[in-house]
Amino acid sequence: MSLIKVNAEHRYHVEIDCDRNDALAEIVSNHNKVLLILPSDINRMYPNLTRHSKFEFLKIPNGEAAKNITTVQTIWKRAAQLKFARNDAIVAIGGGATTDVAGFAASTWMRGIPWYAIPTSLAGMVDAAIGGKTGINQSFGKNLVGSFYSPQKVFIDLSFLDSLSQRDFNAGLAEVIKCGFIKRPEILTRIVEYRQNIARLIELAVRTKAEVVGQDFKESRTREILNYGHTLGHAIEKDSNFKLRHGEAISIGMVFAAQLSNQLLNLTVQEVQTHTDLLSKLNLPISYPKKRWSSLSNLLFQDKKVRNGRVRFIGLTRIGKTAWLEDVNQIELKRCYETIAS
Ligand code: GLY
Repeated sequence: MSLIKVNAEHRYHVEIDCDRNDALAEIVSNHNKVLLILPSDINRMYPNLTRHSKFEFLKIPNGEAAKNITTVQTIWKRAAQLKFARNDAIVAIGGGATTDVAGFAASTWMRGIPWYAIPTSLAGMVDAAIGGKTGINQSFGKNLVGSFYSPQKVFIDLSFLDSLSQRDFNAGLAEVIKCGFIKRPEILTRIVEYRQNIARLIELAVRTKAEVVGQDFKESRTREILNYGHTLGHAIEKDSNFKLRHGEAISIGMVFAAQLSNQLLNLTVQEVQTHTDLLSKLNLPISYPKKRWSSLSNLLFQDKKVRNGRVRFIGLTRIGKTAWLEDVNQIELKRCYETIAS
């Protein structure tokens, strides 16, 4: 078991390798009423949750289908029925979409009540549940409405990973390997043997995110390094109509960012090759069809990261050392895309 401190708007811990029912017992001991928010397939996937007289349960749609204002209103309504006050707590048990929407509801009910995250997906454990970003999607864009609102604690029960498909697991590994590329190369030497190393890999990824969030909670600049691979990755995710998992899309995005770093910074050909070798070993995609460039290029300019009409990328000067690419022109982008396109 390890405990990692996150210094955000308040200090909290991420406990790695704990038991879900011990986590719930700890939460119950600190609050009057506890509203557990779970995706609707929770019983099938995680049947062995203990019951307690303080618990109230609310099931919401699975995955991204829950990340909308209707779900938030359902949570508010339930909180109102239960007369939820500031000594009560919301607990989100689920993947990134569940923790995002439940955390957002917690941040808005009575201007903020305590909440806890018990992530069940690998991407949730190493990314979505860490760092206090909460939010919902709107017809005009993903994650455009949200808040920075940290949980009281994050509990990681590794046995949830047994319920994931290999594809979802590998998509989560993309966020782990990202931490290796941007800040902690030690991850890259361990990731191929991920089965034996999973607890340590999760710990290293959470430590990396905690350090970055501790320096720049509200993403004024430093936190942007966590978006390595995400600029093109988000465009690919949308272009694929979300058929590609987030981690799969950012895998391609990281290869693109590495190629761009080779063209415009000092990243070596061998370091680009390290990207493609490791990502392919994890069965993650490393290229995308050439004919999709015009669609991707339109999507790139609609991204949240566009400032003053300029697309910003996080690049690498070497593995483990990030740099900002602020002003890449269309010709350079296209040339780079051609090197990774299939
Ligand atoms: N997923 C990137 C961040 O939390 O900042």
